[in-house]
Amino acid sequence: MDLTQRPRRLRSDGIRPLVSETTLDASNLIAPVFVDATTETRQPIPSMPGHERVPVAEAVDRVEEIRETGVEAIILFGVPESKDAEGSRAWVEDGVVQRATRGITDATDAYVITDICLCEYTDHGHCGALEAGAREGAIQTVDNDATLSLLERIAVSHAEAGAEMVAPSGMIDGMVGAIREGLDDAGYEQVPIMSYAAKYESAFYGPFRDAADGAPAFGDRRHYQMDPANAREASREVALDVEQGADVLMVKPALPYLDVVSRVRREFDRPVAAYNVSGEYAMLHAAAEKGWLDLEAVAHESLLSIKRAGADLILTYFAEDIAHRL
Ligand code: PBG
Repeated sequence: MDLTQRPRRLRSDGIRPLVSETTLDASNLIAPVFVDATTETRQPIPSMPGHERVPVAEAVDRVEEIRETGVEAIILFGVPESKDAEGSRAWVEDGVVQRATRGITDATDAYVITDICLCEYTDHGHCGALEAGAREGAIQTVDNDATLSLLERIAVSHAEAGAEMVAPSGMIDGMVGAIREGLDDAGYEQVPIMSYAAKYESAFYGPFRDAADGAPAFGDRRHYQMDPANAREASREVALDVEQGADVLMVKPALPYLDVVSRVRREFDRPVAAYNVSGEYAMLHAAAEKGWLDLEAVAHESLLSIKRAGADLILTYFAEDIAHRL
């Protein structure tokens, strides 16, 4: 037996940390924050233990709690006071995200990223303007090109409120280019775009849709979000966003799509973000509640694996818990 090669030599406690290939740091993490214009008090989100929808008046406190753990970047999602067919509360100056952004950027040094999508603002819950006949079950649902100018307006209104980065999540063709043009025309050429470049039509978004009240009222999102069966197509999607000026490329969800994270890392010379989504968070919590998994250990291992696969940044509901122990 030839045992000149003994990988175990490098696994003693003394040397393990020196040969560790991947490290997690609080500076890699982005914490999602839900701001709710319909409530005066914090509302726990049952399927996402530890997370709440906070009223606008408490957005600053919520962000300060996150910053105390060492996490400096947040992504804001809003629940508006009312919804309509166009989603018009998404781009108004006194909208929920605009007010929260103004408060947070005035009072803290947090890095504020805003999610740009219409599904929380439309009464039908889809991520854009509807095509004629969509409610009656026509094949397509979202009118792609009519949605572009709306996304542009939302992005500019967020930048006006002080957003430092915008993150379009609707999987609308041309969304990055339209938003880039809108921001540049309005004088916000320094505001980067983190594109949800390869976002899949995933069943792992369930808890988020409860949290942000953004489930589609009819149909689903498979005509705009990607088919989970496709990885080569992710390269095409990402390439289009790079051409249109995306600064950071996101893959979503994270754990079931690590092959896509690693592919985007290999093929594109841009920072890669991965979104460890609500369902990924909820399932670890559920198993831990039953005593079947050690929550902190599996959360840490999950984030480390996402980083190892090639993500530079991780959007995660575990941000505070994990940053705490780093
Ligand atoms: C909005 C949006 C969604 C998520 C982020 N932005 C929901 C969706 O596309 O249905 C999901 C986040 C999560 O599950 O944690 N388009």
